[in-house]
Amino acid sequence: VLAVQADGSDVTTIEGLANGGLHPMQQAFWDQHGLQCGYCTPGMIMSATKLVENNPDITEEEIRHGLEGNICRCTGYQNIVKAVQQAAETMNA
Ligand code: FES
Repeated sequence: VLAVQADGSDVTTIEGLANGGLHPMQQAFWDQHGLQCGYCTPGMIMSATKLVENNPDITEEEIRHGLEGNICRCTGYQNIVKAVQQAAETMNA
């Protein structure tokens, strides 16, 4: 969205997600080698975090569907899906 469309909303950035330490989603991307470049990775992490918050028992198919708008031509997404699955387990613990 354009920044003006977020006027009056709470906005969390990739930096803000780390609150005194890495968020479980950030840690999982690190652990599972899901990190890509600085353009797509923040979007992947932010989208994946909201996906898991909205659906704690998210399936692999739901992860792939939920991230299909975050396009990266440089990866096969396998490690990204594994990272989201790890984060879901941690966030639900
Ligand atoms: Fe970021 Fe492919 S690594 S767009």
